Amino acid sequence: MLNKPEKSIPLFDCKTTQEVIGQQKFLDAFKTILNHGGYCQGPETKELDVALANYSGSKYCATCGSGTDALTLALMAWGIKAGDAVFVSSFTFVASAECVAIVGATPIFVDSDPNTYNMDVKDLERAIEMVKKEGKLTPKVIIPVDIFGSPCDYDAILEIAHKNNMKVLADSCQGYGSVYKGKRAGSIADMTATSFYPTKPLGGYGDGGATFTNSAEENELLKSCRVHGMSPEDHYDNIRLGMTGRMNSFQAAVLLLKLTVLDNELQARAKVAARYDNELDSYYGKQQILPNCKSAYALYTINCEDRDELMSYLKERGIPCGAYYPRPVNTQTAYAKWNTRSLPVCEKLSKTVLSIPMTPYLDKEQMDYIIGTMNEFAAQKKNRAA
Ligand SMILES: Cc1ncc(COP(=O)(O)O)c(C=O)c1O
Repeated sequence: MLNKPEKSIPLFDCKTTQEVIGQQKFLDAFKTILNHGGYCQGPETKELDVALANYSGSKYCATCGSGTDALTLALMAWGIKAGDAVFVSSFTFVASAECVAIVGATPIFVDSDPNTYNMDVKDLERAIEMVKKEGKLTPKVIIPVDIFGSPCDYDAILEIAHKNNMKVLADSCQGYGSVYKGKRAGSIADMTATSFYPTKPLGGYGDGGATFTNSAEENELLKSCRVHGMSPEDHYDNIRLGMTGRMNSFQAAVLLLKLTVLDNELQARAKVAARYDNELDSYYGKQQILPNCKSAYALYTINCEDRDELMSYLKERGIPCGAYYPRPVNTQTAYAKWNTRSLPVCEKLSKTVLSIPMTPYLDKEQMDYIIGTMNEFAAQKKNRAA
């Protein structure tokens, strides 16, 4: 057994950024809000809308209460409803499909590519053909998910969508800061949703999210839907259905501060990932990032046949890890009625993937230990098989 590093190893690190920026700056920002009293959608949220739009290269950004809200608001703004089909990755967090059910539409689950773990474009085409042939639902939206922060094959997905008169809502809840062929998440698809849950690459200190669009009209709809469908002219006239989807000003203040170090943190995450890519034994399959793309590395995820045994081996040695996701959404109880397609790759991934520690602040000693321990497990397995 290798010697454990002195500092314990986290799977995520939601706290160190606070030390890097300086806690006093957060306290000052909170004091400003306590004094001005605009706790919901105060000046900080408006400043954040602009800062996030600028960062991602999108014309507009509407911040909101969570990534789930961000996805749901996009579908509401497009008027997606019962009778509409929305094609969504199944190897993802439940919210990618939950938003579809919330607006009353039908999720059609799509299989994943075994190398990128993202939406399989060929299977997407098959699913669209199936729905068209059945003739019961109208294909309206595709929701590809930038799983673990890695961009999907957007050129192909956008082409399929626009050819079929559909829209693409990117679920980049794990991918804020990722880059697809020179474009940052938020500026690639027709609309993009992201999450600022604390473990995300740009994580707040609580829930938060945002929806991005290049259309002024869509942005107005998003802003109306996040406050119950309120009319911009008459705040007591709600002209469409909406929700309580506002971001609070404290969260916006946190995110404005954390945005100042996001680039440094993304670079540090990429360095950690490069070490894993280069030094982890070839016994492990590694998530492939598409050419000319950069992952935001919300998570670093490998796959291996004896995942559960590896997970116990690492945990016993003080290395936290997690199986994201052990059940594809189509196999979960609340989604059984939409479990209409066979998704063999999703099923396989759910049994073989393992996410290992990924934070911008892992030091050399911690990384040596993680890599050494994983390679020790791989060597034992290979010896036994020989
Ligand atoms: C892929 C994906 N979509 C949607 C969400 C929902 O985001 P939130 O938890 O902010 O509602 C998450 C959050 O974990 C996610 O990982």
